Amino acid sequence: MAGRKVSPNLELNRIVDERRAVGESLVHLGFGEARLPVFAPLARQLAAGAAYNAYGPVAGGLPVREAVAGYFTRRRLPTGPDQVLVAPGSKPLLMGLQHVTGGEVYLPKPAWNTYAPQAALAGKRAIGVPIPPESGGIPDPAVLREELRAARTRGATPGMVILTLPDNPTGTIAPARLVREVCALAEEYDLLVVSDEVYRDVIHDPATEFLSPADVVPHRTVVTTGLSKSLALGGWRIGCARFPGNPLGRRLRDDVVAVGSEVWSTLAAPMQEVAEYAFSEPPELRAWLGRAARLHGTVARAVHALLTDAGASCRPPTGAFYVYPDFEPVRDALARRGVTDSPSLFAHLLDEYGIAVLAGHQLGDDEGALRFKAATSLLYGPTREEQQAALDAEDPLRLPHVDSVLTRLAESFAKLTA
Ligand SMILES: Cc1ncc(COP(=O)(O)O)c(C=O)c1O
Repeated sequence: MAGRKVSPNLELNRIVDERRAVGESLVHLGFGEARLPVFAPLARQLAAGAAYNAYGPVAGGLPVREAVAGYFTRRRLPTGPDQVLVAPGSKPLLMGLQHVTGGEVYLPKPAWNTYAPQAALAGKRAIGVPIPPESGGIPDPAVLREELRAARTRGATPGMVILTLPDNPTGTIAPARLVREVCALAEEYDLLVVSDEVYRDVIHDPATEFLSPADVVPHRTVVTTGLSKSLALGGWRIGCARFPGNPLGRRLRDDVVAVGSEVWSTLAAPMQEVAEYAFSEPPELRAWLGRAARLHGTVARAVHALLTDAGASCRPPTGAFYVYPDFEPVRDALARRGVTDSPSLFAHLLDEYGIAVLAGHQLGDDEGALRFKAATSLLYGPTREEQQAALDAEDPLRLPHVDSVLTRLAESFAKLTA
């Protein structure tokens, strides 16, 4: 098809690889990957699963769906295996949901760079609604209300709102009060709520309050998640969705299964073995998840500190592995370097400091704003040994390879805003 573009984060990987191939030293902060070694029992599960070479049911086999149902049930959401689908990543499940539903799609602004293109692929209009000051991952309820009213006045049909909890790109978790407010609007305007919880197990402080829309409006919420982020298994492609246990949920699930039957057929059988083990959450796996979340939090907070020291404003990160700074407070200093908007900030960081980030406008944010996303999980070192050391360290910030890249970032941002 003409005019299609590669997703900007994947395109950035290509640019970074090209520049590195000619010897440039780059700090790549533009790709949302956990960058940790595979937890050994998962690899053993995968090897054992190699014996399974038959196609299986599109929705996934019963054992893996039971494991996923248990995972949700332990999170206050009683779930049966017939409410669950597994697939090669949560991305295709999100696309499937776009295909089988109608109406306009409401997104936080900024949001993960795939939601809007997926809506467009499904022939739908996506509307970015600015996030509130408290957190990202959720449209500001007051603005969302205005947008929904305006849609009705236009004669349009609002169809779906997508929330990201915890959030990519801001690394924050929407407070319960805001989740409730958006759920109330979903009720009023009959919206399907899609709660993307792929970072659900990357909450830095386990005491942080987390409210899923499925707790509030279970009859109209589909939750998606997967193992790409929490267990750093992006390349293994394991995702799942939980549908409401009512006629709407059954209709949506059947329709997404129908899409899956024509597109991906089934989650690869060996991956179902991995997923069954992971979603049953044995103690050793929980311990690994806890260590990984602590590491993500420690490094994200360190990057947050160096950015705010340099004069940016930035919501403190509490989940996932991102920060989303805003250089508006130092706009004048940046203007002296020819940096006046999101594209020029991106280009300047790459060309002058060798720092690759994902520019805010690539995430649906205003092009005139001085914002970007940095994935701090890419700072644990390029080798498996360094990454394992970061995971095992009492204080990862004291590891020389982590310290040196943080120092480079601190010096670069201090220079940028001097
Ligand atoms: C917010 C969000 N949702 C979904 C995904 C897709 O994850 P996967 O398809 O690997 O499950 C990502 C990955 O970048 C993400 O950041």
